[in-house]
Amino acid sequence: MMDINSAEFVISNTDPALCPDDNKPEYAFIGRSNVGKSSLINMLTNKRKLAMTSSTPGKTTLINHFIIDDSWYLVDLPGYGFSQRDRKKKKQIKDVIERYIEEREQMTCLFVLIDLRHDPQAIDLEFMRYLGENGVPFCIVFTKADKLKGGEQKPKLQRYIDAIKKEWDELPPYFVTSSEKRLGRKEILNYIEEVNLSIKQSSDDIPFIQ
Ligand code: GTP
Ligand code: MG
Repeated sequence: MMDINSAEFVISNTDPALCPDDNKPEYAFIGRSNVGKSSLINMLTNKRKLAMTSSTPGKTTLINHFIIDDSWYLVDLPGYGFSQRDRKKKKQIKDVIERYIEEREQMTCLFVLIDLRHDPQAIDLEFMRYLGENGVPFCIVFTKADKLKGGEQKPKLQRYIDAIKKEWDELPPYFVTSSEKRLGRKEILNYIEEVNLSIKQSSDDIPFIQ
């Protein structure tokens, strides 16, 4: 199994054009404010304070790049759909997210985080629709599984999968996680490793691309 040896903060900004330009693949985390994006990055990297977390929604407001083992990036994004924020600020954050998603060529896979406790929310389903329309590859990460009792997890998951299947011919890859209990870490890291290898393979196949 792949593990992470080093994880370092690189840069924060609002402009995708100013993000690192060394062409390494990157994996970004998105979802509603407070769903657990920053906590998941800390869990994956085994660093408690790498990405800043807060119990108050709206903590992350910038695009944050973390370099992993000098070869790929994890990217922490601001959350969407935080209703308390003023309208102007909300629009700014929406623009940052959309520009990043639509312009960032290195973005290899977007992990869309969904709180496993909640019933399917229109805002998340709409967001995934938007990704589909823009041809953005994504996975779903169900978070905070520790907040449900063992027996409650399966029906919640099934309910979500049913909602997705109504709209999509194919289910995207999905992961059930808990940053608190470190659940789903191996699965996500193995998935990233697979994708990294397939990128390397396809660039090896093309003699003109180094
Ligand atoms: P924004 O940056 O505001 O968009 O939020 P975020 O999605 O980055 O969420 P963050 O990681 O800051 O976590 C929000 C709150 O949820 C914090 O209080 C975390 O401790 C808590 N939290 C995150 N993941 C888990 C989890 O797996 N289990 C439990 N019990 N709490 C979690
Ligand atoms: Mg955050």
